[in-house]
Amino acid sequence: MNSKTDIVTVLVTELKDLSKNLINYKGEKAKRKVFRKVCDDVYQKIDNQITITNVRNMIEHFMSDQSLKTKELIKGIIKSVDYGNFPKRVKIIEALDNFDKRHQTITDQTLEQFELNELISLERFNNFVRYVPSPSRLFNKLMCFISKYDFEYEDYTFIDVGSGMGRSLLLASHHPFEKIIGIEISEYLNGIAYQNINKYDSINQKCVNIETICCDALNFNFPEKNTVYYFYAPFPDHMESHFFRRLIDFTSETNNKFILIFLESSLPDIPGSELFRLRSSINFEDFVEISSLRYNAKIYTRDNIKF
Ligand SMILES: C[S@@+](CC[C@H](N)C(=O)[O-])C[C@H]1O[C@@H](n2cnc3c(N)ncnc32)[C@H](O)[C@@H]1O
Repeated sequence: MNSKTDIVTVLVTELKDLSKNLINYKGEKAKRKVFRKVCDDVYQKIDNQITITNVRNMIEHFMSDQSLKTKELIKGIIKSVDYGNFPKRVKIIEALDNFDKRHQTITDQTLEQFELNELISLERFNNFVRYVPSPSRLFNKLMCFISKYDFEYEDYTFIDVGSGMGRSLLLASHHPFEKIIGIEISEYLNGIAYQNINKYDSINQKCVNIETICCDALNFNFPEKNTVYYFYAPFPDHMESHFFRRLIDFTSETNNKFILIFLESSLPDIPGSELFRLRSSINFEDFVEISSLRYNAKIYTRDNIKF
């Protein structure tokens, strides 16, 4: 048992059951004891040692807050790992999309940081979002959208910020970008992206100059190039202004052209963002009837790009 749904489902189910039964235990000491027992049972059900360590560290982290009563502790853990029906809905979209079957790649999973096959720090657990691939139909539409601007693919580098298993890099390669770069914090995901890029074989591919860089996007050195930056929700709110402040500082010192594409996130309202103009806000309703997932995308361009 190793996949996302299994680990999270087991953890959440067991903790929700415990939460209901907690009333049967008198005093915090007894409650903590039964909580520990339930957690130990959950670890037994995970067959990947690295994931067990990550889950254990995450739980110990919550437990280290002595001010939390066991009930609050359980609530906090459930809140931070349970995304309700989101993974199920993504599965429906992925099944329709069939991207991996069509291309013999591995991109279609939904994985929290703690589920990756690598040890993660508490900082990663708290500040870094899960991996989920961009729906390919949406991504393709976005790529066509930008072609309406004063824009030639050949003059631009495409950068996916938080590139995961590399699906968007592969789809971007259907356009003749000068270069394509993926930035990803996870070595595990980046390794899969690297393999996907090497085995990707499509007659539609127009750019093979693809590089993946395993680093924290917050420390990334922006290239002196005209660039399309793509963001599919890579940062939680409290992290994104750091990234965009750096990008805006960089933008103000260069004449290069920048296009920022956001799927499910938007340019935070920070000083200096008048360098960018909102050009399009697009609501995708494609999958709503089947999965009830709605997507919104926003495209900003630097003020030196004409309509
Ligand atoms: C929602 S997924 C998007 C995946 C990919 N862009 C796509 O479109 O298929 C967000 C990704 O951002 C990565 N990530 C989160 N914070 C990051 C950071 N500070 N630096 C680099 N990657 C990060 C996560 O590991 C995850 O793979």
